[in-house]
Formats: sequence, structure tokens, C-alpha cells
Amino acid sequence: MEFHKEDILGHHVIIAIDSLALGPALGGSRMKRYDSVKEQTTDVERLANGMTHKSSLAGLDLGGGKATINAPSDFGKGDNNGEQRRELFLAFGDFVESLGGNYITAEDVGTNVDDMEVVFERTKHVVGLPRYPYSRGGSGDPSIITAAGVYQALIACVEGLYKTDSLEGLTATLQGAGHVGKQLSRMLLKGGIEKLIISDKRRKKIDQLREYIEDFELATNEKYNDRIQVSHPDKIYSKKGDIFVPCALGGILNKDTVPVLKNSCYKIVCGAANNQLLDTVKDGQRLMKAGILYGPDYLVNAGGLINVYVELSGRKNGNGYSREAALEKVRSIYNTMREVIEISKIEQIPTNEVADRVAERRVSKAS
Ligand SMILES: NC(=O)c1ccc[n+]([C@@H]2O[C@H](COP(=O)([O-])OP(=O)(O)OC[C@H]3O[C@@H](n4cnc5c(N)ncnc54)[C@H](O)[C@@H]3O)[C@@H](O)[C@H]2O)c1
Repeated sequence: MEFHKEDILGHHVIIAIDSLALGPALGGSRMKRYDSVKEQTTDVERLANGMTHKSSLAGLDLGGGKATINAPSDFGKGDNNGEQRRELFLAFGDFVESLGGNYITAEDVGTNVDDMEVVFERTKHVVGLPRYPYSRGGSGDPSIITAAGVYQALIACVEGLYKTDSLEGLTATLQGAGHVGKQLSRMLLKGGIEKLIISDKRRKKIDQLREYIEDFELATNEKYNDRIQVSHPDKIYSKKGDIFVPCALGGILNKDTVPVLKNSCYKIVCGAANNQLLDTVKDGQRLMKAGILYGPDYLVNAGGLINVYVELSGRKNGNGYSREAALEKVRSIYNTMREVIEISKIEQIPTNEVADRVAERRVSKAS
């Protein structure tokens, strides 16, 4: 692990490069308050290592990296038309540029696409720019590509378990009707899911999802809304279903929820949320013992990363970003998920452990 450090406007910034074995280290810029340099270093190290695994498992020619900025996420937003925030991200862009392309940044928790546009004024080593103006080759909102990847993984899980790719007769329960959840709900309904239970702690999100599905009904002349049922967020784990689809929070798979999911007859957990396992070792094993097939989160939700990889490739070869190319590439998630399920079955180890092994093997082969 390489650490590069700078103070920008009095804020400590660390860029960690975990691995360059497969390609330049890509990972977002996280902006939050840390109590100490030690805490910030531990966080950036863990996150950069996670990116190495994620890129490797997705089969991308990318290494793992991450940046952390020790400042409140709303830093400089209101002051002087955001001039201070702009200054910070211009200097951060210079910092990224000074690493000569070994580190490529993107938005993350606490930073946003506007910040990345500022970074782009100083370095080309930034991805996740808006799609327009088209000439810059930005890939825009990744949610639809992420949802497409989740859908691929989910079908692989269904096939692995039921020996058919049909969703007919199955109930899926969606936790979180946000950007990814909304897109995924359409895919699941179109794919033939019999019942879709949805929940969101914000009522507005449920209404927006229903409206979105109504528009989709109009466009396709199909009836979908009557297959949707709404659940209170606190009751979601005890609703009877087959596939649980976490698209909201981390840490939701733990010693309290896994037994409830088992009692509610769930056979698959596969969704976009990051860090779903509260304890990566114990809860991965707990799911396996409960007879629940788990789609490892960083495999399942790699669509967003694949999307910015396609942006990067388009910029390099001069052809620009292509949404079709991103959608095509995201299909590889299906194959990886199938491979992970097969190894897990043969060796009787949890899918998340298999995913880690497959990811590490590719990195060590390259290095
Ligand atoms: N957007 C992407 O491309 C992408 C890529 C990789 C991973 N992810 C992860 O997937 C998850 C969803 O991403 P998103 O972009 O849709 O986020 P989002 O913020 O748009 O949606 C999350 C939704 O979850 C809801 N929610 C929060 N707590 C809840 C609870 N207890 N019960 C039910 N709903 C609750 C929120 O109200 C919100 O509507 C996040 O964990 C994110 O980190 C997203």
C-alpha cells in the first residue's frame, strides 16, 4: 500500500494506492470528518483494498485506490457561492494529476459530481462525469447499469438454485426504492417476478417507484403495478418471500436478521447495497448454514464500476462513452456469479469467501 499525503486548505488528504498489478488504481474520493490521522489512514487503506478486490473480480484492468479528505461533507457549500469548496477540489485535482495517472478518482460519500467537474479542470484522471456535454465522454448516473448488473447476478443465483432462469412464481422483496431499487423493480417485473414487495423509509420514494412503473405500463401495454405490495421498513425481513434484494443499507445481514430471513423462506439474497454482511466471516457462514444463497455485494453491484471503466476506455481510445458497451460489459457479472456459486457448492465455503479468493488469485497472477 502506497500513501500520498497533502494538506489542502488545512484539510488532511490521503490518497492510498493498494495495487497497480492489473492497471491504474481507481477509487472514489471520500470526504468526511475523521478524529485522527490514524483513523483516516485505516479507513482509506481498507477502502483502497476493497477496490482492488472489486476491480479484479469484475475482470477489469484496474488496480485499487481511494482518497479521503478530512473535512465535513458540506464543507464550503454555502460560503461565497461555494468558492472555498471549488478551491479545495482544484487543489485536489492538482494532487491527483501529480500521481501521473496511477490514481484515478471519482465521486464517493461526501463528494458529488459537481466536485468531480471541478477536479476535471486540473486532471483527466477523474471519472463519473455527467454525460452532457457529450464531448467530455462522461458516463453519468450509473444506477441503471448497476441495476442491470444486480439483475444479471440475481438470474445467475436463480439458475444456480432452481435450475431455470424463470422468475415466474417467485416473490422478490426489495429494501430501498432509491436510484438502483427503482430501476431494478422494472427489470424484475418485466422479467416475470410474480410478486414484488417494496419498502423504503421515505414514503415519497415508494410513490415515485409506483409512478415510474405506471409510466412503464403505458409504454409497454402491460400490467405491473398490481404485482407490487408495500411493506413497512421494519417488517420487511419477516415478509414471506424467495429473493431478498437489499438496495438501501450496509450491515443488514447479521445474527438478528439471517434467522428471520430463513423463517420467512428466503433462499437468495442478492442486491446492490454495499457491505451487507455485518461480520464478513460469521455472517457469510451464517447465511450458508441457513441455506440462503448470498450474492457477494461487491460482485453484484460492480455495474457502477464497470460503467466508469467504459468511460475511461472510451476516453483513451477516443471513441467516447457508450451506454450499450457498458450494458454489454455488465453481463460478465452473470458468469462470475455462476463461477462463484459452483466453487462454493463444490468446496462448501460461503460465496463471499469464494469471491475474495477469485479476486485475490487474479491480482496475484498479474503481480
Ligand atoms: N447507485 C449506484 O450505482 C450504486 C453502485 C454500487 C453500490 N450502490 C449501493 O447500493 C445502495 C443503493 O444505492 P442507490 O444509489 O439506489 O441509493 P439511494 O440513496 O438512491 O437509495 C437508497 C434508498 O434506501 C432508502 N432507505 C434507507 N434506509 C432504509 C431502510 N431502513 N429501509 C428501507 N429503505 C431505506 C432510502 O430512503 C433511499 O430511497 C447503496 O448502498 C449504494 O451504496 C449503488
